[in-house]
Amino acid sequence: MTQPEYDFAVIGHPISHSRSPDIHAEFARQTGISMQYGRIDAEPDQFEETVRQFFANGGRGLNITVPYKERAFDMAQPHLSQRAREAGAVNTLWVKDAMIHGCNTDGVGLVRDLNRLGTLRPGIKILILGAGGAARGVVGPLREQGCGLLMIANRTFSKADTLVKEHIALHPQDTGVITACSLNDPRLEQDWDLIINATSSSLGGATIELPDMAFGNDTFIYDMMYGAKPTPFLDYAARHRKLAMADGLGMLVCQAAESFRIWHGIEPAVDAVIEQIRMQLV
Ligand code: ATR
Repeated sequence: MTQPEYDFAVIGHPISHSRSPDIHAEFARQTGISMQYGRIDAEPDQFEETVRQFFANGGRGLNITVPYKERAFDMAQPHLSQRAREAGAVNTLWVKDAMIHGCNTDGVGLVRDLNRLGTLRPGIKILILGAGGAARGVVGPLREQGCGLLMIANRTFSKADTLVKEHIALHPQDTGVITACSLNDPRLEQDWDLIINATSSSLGGATIELPDMAFGNDTFIYDMMYGAKPTPFLDYAARHRKLAMADGLGMLVCQAAESFRIWHGIEPAVDAVIEQIRMQLV
């Protein structure tokens, strides 16, 4: 690999769809920081070598996306933030004292977006749908906001159960506050303050079905997926009631803002950037 023409990049496979270069270009313009941010498509057998070469050639920071967040976690051992350890995955890498360091900014990004939307308050009852990587990255930061109940519902119960047990092992004080269930558990039949879809069901055009009672008058619906049109889950929820809702574009911009802060020590403003990227979605 020759000297890259950029000092920051997002790496994944495939990568052409990534909005990260546009988002970081906007943050750089806004803060007056000079950075060149590119896209790197790494073949599966080339990921580790590509990352090492990038930093060896003077690269300063990487965002990691599908399917490499767990492999980035392994590469940054033992220089992992607490957030990365809880998530078991890394989406932000940088080099300090010639060592690769890693953090996961997804959870902070979600919390910042939910705060921006005015949906978080102490004692809130949150239902998370899904127990894959997306859910795993946000449980710790959400819990830190002081929710009253955080239930993780998954099609495959054992995965939700494992996620909760791993969290409780690190935070025993959360016993009874963070719980696991299946998608047909009767405990879903309660009026939730916030329902977060962290499944990948929307990718296949499917939606998760929930009991009517789960949608109260003031339930806020959040889908971590985003697109030019409402996701299938947001569409489905809107058919129940006129509810406040948002897709995950704000989370995408907010997790990028946290990566930017780690790299440059400045926290960029996000509202205008979210609007701008929204207009570019097709
Ligand atoms: P990610 O890293 O995006 O979270 P993942 O680790 O593959 O991706 O997890 C996908 C999540 O979406 C899982 O919780 C999965 O449920 P299972 O654990 O039962 O597989 C959930 N999911 C995907 N499609 C779904 C569908 N059509 N209905 C319900 N859950 C679905």
